[in-house]
Amino acid sequence: MALRTIRVIGDPILEKETKAVKEVTDKTKELIRDMFDTMYDANGVGLAAPQVGILRQIFVVDIGDGKRFVCINPEVTPLGDEVQTGEEGCLSVPDKQGIVTRPMKVHVKAMDINFQPYEFDAEGLLARAMAHENDHLHGIMYVSKVEGELEDVEYEALDEGEQ
Ligand code: NI
Repeated sequence: MALRTIRVIGDPILEKETKAVKEVTDKTKELIRDMFDTMYDANGVGLAAPQVGILRQIFVVDIGDGKRFVCINPEVTPLGDEVQTGEEGCLSVPDKQGIVTRPMKVHVKAMDINFQPYEFDAEGLLARAMAHENDHLHGIMYVSKVEGELEDVEYEALDEGEQ
């Protein structure tokens, strides 16, 4: 298990656009393994490559429903007009949370860890995680979308929602 350093808000790399992945090499697979290790170690539900200093279109998500998602070169598109408004956090913004409105459902097209295309619909927390991580690939931090003020996370709430 190899942990990577999570970049925190203020680091300019978090505000940069990422580049598409052209091929999945052993190095890419190592990066993805490290991203999962780093995310689980930090009790997160998602992590995007820029958060570990890599400007490539890769994110991983596991909201604890038994599925691990690797999304390479993803396209995340809202499905319908329904939205959800709720607490969101980010491993790059430690100990903070804020209210963000996201699509209730999204459609995701991506390449998997073997660089094969796949697609799926996501809703609820999974849709929120997909939208949040996809934003990281375009240099967008959730704090720019927070309605009202960022709040300090209550300690007992740390298990949920950090991305
Ligand atoms: Ni985040």
